[in-house]
Amino acid sequence: MIRVGVDIPGREYEVLVGPGSRSLMEDMLPSGVEKVAVVTQEHLSLELHPGVPFEVVLVPQGERAKSLGVLEEVCGRFARMGLSRSDAVVALGGGVVTDLAGFAAASYHRGIAYLNVPTTLLAQVDAAIGGKTGVNLREGKNLVGAFWQPAGVLCDTELLTGLPEREWRSGRGEMAKYAFLSSPGEPERVASMGAGMLSLPLEEQVAHCVAIKAGVVAADEREGSRRAILNYGHTLAHALEADAIARGRDDAIRHGEAVAIGLVFAARLAMRLGRIGSERVAEHEAVVRGFGLDYRLPAGWDSSALVGYMLRDKKAHHDLTFVLDGPRGVELVTGVDQGDVLATLSDMPVADGLDSHQGL
Ligand SMILES: NC(=O)c1ccc[n+]([C@@H]2O[C@H](COP(=O)([O-])OP(=O)(O)OC[C@H]3O[C@@H](n4cnc5c(N)ncnc54)[C@H](O)[C@@H]3O)[C@@H](O)[C@H]2O)c1
Ligand SMILES: [Zn+2]
Repeated sequence: MIRVGVDIPGREYEVLVGPGSRSLMEDMLPSGVEKVAVVTQEHLSLELHPGVPFEVVLVPQGERAKSLGVLEEVCGRFARMGLSRSDAVVALGGGVVTDLAGFAAASYHRGIAYLNVPTTLLAQVDAAIGGKTGVNLREGKNLVGAFWQPAGVLCDTELLTGLPEREWRSGRGEMAKYAFLSSPGEPERVASMGAGMLSLPLEEQVAHCVAIKAGVVAADEREGSRRAILNYGHTLAHALEADAIARGRDDAIRHGEAVAIGLVFAARLAMRLGRIGSERVAEHEAVVRGFGLDYRLPAGWDSSALVGYMLRDKKAHHDLTFVLDGPRGVELVTGVDQGDVLATLSDMPVADGLDSHQGL
């Protein structure tokens, strides 16, 4: 079992990574908890031992579960089961469940404790750590939410055994992002290590990513500046996801698949802006391929539509903002010229079909 601390002043907690870590749920619950609501999805039936009486609250599949309507139902269930302010929520599922249940915990009784037990690779390396919780509106993803840190996170790698290949790929896209990041203050333990990460046992791969995220979040919980580096590859990724949704093809591209394309795009844009050389771009392409992912743009994309989505990305305030590699490492760059973005987009390789993301 690997323990990684998330040292946010006043809200410190631990992430326990390894096979079977879910059995430590009881130890992680804050003292005084007499009842637990386990928020999960139907097919994720697991034996749980929170050590106190619990009720299971089932939520739907997919992004539509992250809605104010479902949030109301979930909080209504909490009230009917008599969940008090000193009780707790357990979020058992992928990022959809941890985002929704975390926000329910943040809002119910103005905030009660919760534990995350992430069951997808993406949620283990990213979504379950760092306290960003929330739901979607029709107007956009994650528009309503709160920073609400869990009391602990159990990344049980045994839970990933039955994960569909597509979800592994999506998680690996997010891991590829970490291959270019390191954690401030802990350069030796979690220095950027490229695709070398994949030679580690799964438990160590997950812990490596968790340690980077934990270090970044502890330095900047509310995304004043440093935390933005966790959005490396995400500006184009969010645009691709929004574009797929607009075409009624929500499942055409998984989040991590979009991030993989976004990473290579960001490297090419950084090269166009004179921030990095061609070897570093080649390294990005090799890492993405090393993680088994495709960096070609889906067929049929429309560059001006993608730029439109990028301008609307909530992280962009006035002009185009990207997280880009450079001489000082990966950092936030504002005021990027639309012409450079369009030119970089038109130089990207294109796949044959919208859903041909089956690896190169
Ligand atoms: N809060 C954050 O910091 C943060 C970071 C990254 C992503 N996210 C959010 O996470 C969400 C995506 O999360 P995701 O990729 O985990 O998607 P998801 O939660 O929808 O899970 C993907 C699919 O896998 C299924 N599944 C989950 N665990 C399984 C298991 N062990 N075995 C078999 N099937 C399983 C789910 O039911 C679902 O069908 C998005 O809504 C995104 O906005 C949040
Ligand atoms: Zn992401």
